[in-house]
Amino acid sequence: MIAFKNRDIISIKDFSRQDVEYILRIAKEMEHNKAKYKELLKGDVVTLVFFESSTRTRLSTYMAAQNLGATIQPFLYSDGTSAIKGETLSDTLMMLKKYGATVVAIRHPLEGSAQWAADVLDVPVVNCGDGAHEHPTQTLLDLYTINKEKGKLDGLSITFVGDLKYGRTVHSLVLAFTKFENVEFVFVSPNVLKLPSYIKEMLDEKKIVYTETEKLEEGVDSDVLYMTRIQEERFGDKAEYEHVRKAYSLKPEHLLNPNIKVMHPLPRNKRAIEIDPSVDALPQACYMGQAENGVYVRMALLGLVSGKLGDGEEYKPKVNVEGEFEFKEIKWKDRERKKGGYLVWEMESGTAVDHLKPNTATKIKDLLGLPENVTCTIGVNLPSGKQSYKDLLKIWGYQLNQEQMQKVALFSPNATINLISEDVLRKTKVVLPKVLTGMVVCDKPHCISNPKHYEFVPSKFMVDGERFICHYCGRKKVNGVL
Ligand code: CP
Repeated sequence: MIAFKNRDIISIKDFSRQDVEYILRIAKEMEHNKAKYKELLKGDVVTLVFFESSTRTRLSTYMAAQNLGATIQPFLYSDGTSAIKGETLSDTLMMLKKYGATVVAIRHPLEGSAQWAADVLDVPVVNCGDGAHEHPTQTLLDLYTINKEKGKLDGLSITFVGDLKYGRTVHSLVLAFTKFENVEFVFVSPNVLKLPSYIKEMLDEKKIVYTETEKLEEGVDSDVLYMTRIQEERFGDKAEYEHVRKAYSLKPEHLLNPNIKVMHPLPRNKRAIEIDPSVDALPQACYMGQAENGVYVRMALLGLVSGKLGDGEEYKPKVNVEGEFEFKEIKWKDRERKKGGYLVWEMESGTAVDHLKPNTATKIKDLLGLPENVTCTIGVNLPSGKQSYKDLLKIWGYQLNQEQMQKVALFSPNATINLISEDVLRKTKVVLPKVLTGMVVCDKPHCISNPKHYEFVPSKFMVDGERFICHYCGRKKVNGVL
């Protein structure tokens, strides 16, 4: 059995192939035996928190909750709420929890907003679209539709057309298909709307075949043709939008392949018309059925995360542990032996931070937040045996704590720490923690943890070797170029 109770639905990346197949099986059961589940969520309160406009996601989640007998608490930003008066997202969410929310479904323009909601709340959160980042429930209904239409999810070729840069449905669906075998992608977009490089890097790592082109005609032989709207609301430069808004218009003459299935997360734009209405009556057109499938998939998800479906086992996320420091202790006797051999040994008590990257000691000293009365000595560009040159920072009469040592690791990952007291020297190499909280700012413009949004979200990065990955928007930074 797969544990789903209290599980947040934030990113499709969090789901294994087994998880996805399980959700799709339950969605199928919901579609065929809807009436059986009409009281499944009796006593639950499904709160819809929508800060962006939505027809399908909002109303299909509403219908899913209603079909299962839940009470529905709708919150719409545009509907006279106090969010407009400057209330933070976390305050709004905590209020909604006080009013009884047992499941929260959220759409918000900032990337990572659903993750932040999950961090703030102790009830399951369902991401209904966080800016240009992800839209996992759409992905699950897309997979459900493809499986229904093609009878499989392995061995498919899929063409994505349109706004591949900002299109969160595209990002999530590409990520989802990496869990299946022998998939191939064609990405059709104007040059300014190409798929983000972080997704292409991941495809390269997994050796998944893909081609990029600007021509729609090069993508019409696939099994699935996934059209998307060019999203005016995501463009900073309106002239750029005008230039590309009519880049593609799918017409019956493109659809000579009888087996291709045309999908679109919808809405399509009546002023750009990326799928001409003359396609609607063709047997290849699946987009209206795709939208209907959203009800069944969201019924399955609400039933699972509330713990009312499945075996009710609580989902336990993996916990990242802090980086541990391993100290080697050297007693006074040895110290005497080495006396005069090396600068660090001159100190009676304090911390010597050795083998720092050249020209980093001053910056690191400023970042450590040392008390004002502490004296430091800085050596810059000293000759070193281990590395050709190094900086050395001696902090007299003060021992660094774990967080300060982790800060050193951020800027100089090969540094050595010597904690010196009267009778012992404790020596260790710096280690980064698995999670960096509040140390590195995410400057991606639309990330909820970017301080410019005044959401008071402490920055959080997951450490993956040399890369730091923002817990909220998924942005990667490389250590040393912070
Ligand atoms: N597909 C989708 O997310 O549609 P809405 O914006 O209407 O919810």
